[in-house]
Amino acid sequence: MNLRHDVKTLAAHFQIFGEYLRAEPYGSGHINDTYRAAFDQGGVAMHYLLQRINQYVFKKPPELMENVRRVTEHIRGKLIAPGEVTRRVLTIVPTRDGRLFHLDAQGNYWRTYVFIEKARTYDAIESAAQAFQAAKEFGQFQKQLVDLPPPRLFDTIPDFHNTPKRFAAFEQAIAADAANRAAACKAEIEFALRRKPLASVLLDLNAKGEIPERTTHNDTKFNNVMLDEATGEALCVIDLDTVMPGLALYDFGDMVRTATSPALEDERDLSKVEMLMPMYEALLRGYLSTAGEFLNRAEKEHLAFAGKLITFEQGVRFLADHLAGDAYYKIHREGHNLDRCRTQFELVESIERQEAEMNRLAEKR
Ligand SMILES: Nc1ncnc2c1ncn2[C@@H]1O[C@H](COP(=O)(O)OP(=O)(O)O)[C@@H](O)[C@H]1O
Ligand SMILES: [Mg+2]
Repeated sequence: MNLRHDVKTLAAHFQIFGEYLRAEPYGSGHINDTYRAAFDQGGVAMHYLLQRINQYVFKKPPELMENVRRVTEHIRGKLIAPGEVTRRVLTIVPTRDGRLFHLDAQGNYWRTYVFIEKARTYDAIESAAQAFQAAKEFGQFQKQLVDLPPPRLFDTIPDFHNTPKRFAAFEQAIAADAANRAAACKAEIEFALRRKPLASVLLDLNAKGEIPERTTHNDTKFNNVMLDEATGEALCVIDLDTVMPGLALYDFGDMVRTATSPALEDERDLSKVEMLMPMYEALLRGYLSTAGEFLNRAEKEHLAFAGKLITFEQGVRFLADHLAGDAYYKIHREGHNLDRCRTQFELVESIERQEAEMNRLAEKR
């Protein structure tokens, strides 16, 4: 197979023993270039995962890898049950000179992980049972990191969920109206402006000391959870590039955004967009089964709100990008970002209609 990168030569820089057999592109991630490489070790084919870090998204790969090292080492220290440690947390394979990454001649940063066998990811959640597993595992990840010793992790993407800043950027996009589209999406703009007060709620609580900064994953999509192929149980979370200081509620909120509605993010038939209560209930149960141990009262009271807020924030970002002429998110058709904005706002409304019930579910736990 002709690969885009010379994986054999790259792999030689890492502490992988045995004889190189083959490599293939792997996974359906959109951010990094991922390969699975096989090596013969004593007559058995062992696999490793090689990844090129996307430097367009992540500006400082060495800081990112230092975050990943600290986080995975901390978690590994808690995994005392024998036999499963390298399936319960990502394991970095260092380079031959003991570094966390290899910098190639083209300036690309490469890293290697132990390949987690007999496990898989799914792009979309197919059942409430899977929603439970995902939320349980992201909650577990946060719980394992509650006592991560200082210093603070690096912010791999600064202001990632700073909703007031995102909102300010949106207001600037309206004022600039660079693509001359504001008049045609008045309804969406007004929808967002009416809800401006939502933007600062969580950060205000954080500033008052009621909601603490914690270590969070920040990309809580279902395809970042490895599930055991045999049992369907979550083994660990992966894709730790965005792990950084944040609010626990952001992780939960993004699960609500991405897992409770059966519609695609760019669905045009908005009647398909709906916050399904059984899915929310499964997320809530799963998340609280692990995170429930450390979350404080203010955090528990804002779980449903977080789902609404993160969905709103994403809608505002799509709308801002539409107004700016599609500068950030790739589009595959005209008005694509506006379509995406509409599904998010539809979901916000669906959450608003059910928010009281969502809050009641959390109180009962
Ligand atoms: N250590 C691993 N073992 C086995 N498969 C993995 C491992 N890490 C990642 N994968 C697979 O590769 C896919 C892409 O990896 P990921 O780190 O999520 O990259 P991206 O940032 O591009 O989403 C994952 O969805 C998963 O299926
Ligand atoms: Mg991923």
